[in-house]
Amino acid sequence: MERGLILAGNWKMNKGPAETTAFLQDLQKSLTGYSQGKEAIRAGKVEVLFFPTFISLPSTCSLREQCDALWDFGAQNCHWETSGAFTGEISVGMLKETGCHSVIIGHSERRHIFGESDDFMEKKIRSVLEEGLRPILCVGETLDERESGQAFTVIDRQLISALKELTTNQIATNMVIAYEPVWAIGTGKTASDADAQEVCRHIRTVISEHFGNEAAEAVRILYGGSVKPSNAKGLLDQPDIDGALIGGAALKVDSFMGIFKACISE
Ligand code: PGA
Repeated sequence: MERGLILAGNWKMNKGPAETTAFLQDLQKSLTGYSQGKEAIRAGKVEVLFFPTFISLPSTCSLREQCDALWDFGAQNCHWETSGAFTGEISVGMLKETGCHSVIIGHSERRHIFGESDDFMEKKIRSVLEEGLRPILCVGETLDERESGQAFTVIDRQLISALKELTTNQIATNMVIAYEPVWAIGTGKTASDADAQEVCRHIRTVISEHFGNEAAEAVRILYGGSVKPSNAKGLLDQPDIDGALIGGAALKVDSFMGIFKACISE
């Protein structure tokens, strides 16, 4: 099965509305000027997505409406309730109102810095799907967990606890998983192509065991953790890696375009 690639830039706590608009205008110019890439996007072979800060979502939405955008956007987090006494939180309905198309769930910074548990992920995914948006569930092991041979156990727990209530159809049509080894995020250390492929293959096998082969073949699995122009092609050429979740290298148009070009080139 042909699975379209996803290149997703997770901006974390970077870029307010003005910087976001300037970046996306520059990016649109670069994408428009690169005919091979533009065709690949228009043909649905590659999706380019950005995850700006909450405060930058309304201006991102207006910009997208004004231009024939070659990119789309989503949010970095959400709460699972529709409204209520949850200071500092945002609901999926509010994100939908600002034009978001996808929501990142369970990024390791949410899990490790803000103490979010597996139980949160399941509720968040349910509420994202109920609003018709697409969840991108992040899973991944810490260095200690990898070195003690626990990587697959941790990833299995994160996956199953988050996805257990979903149907095969929900997984097949609207679920994206990002494998992000915690030790590779923002550290400059990337998993080798073979290690990243091994884990992404494992994720697909777990999906197949729980939801069937059709869901496993359809679900997109991204790799994230220090992806840059020089290592993107090797990672994206792996049979079970369907794209990348990119932090640092998605903050500059040049480096993002370097990754995009690497993934388009034969
Ligand atoms: P990085 O971040 O590319 O800067 O390692 C990836 C991520 O956290 O999604």
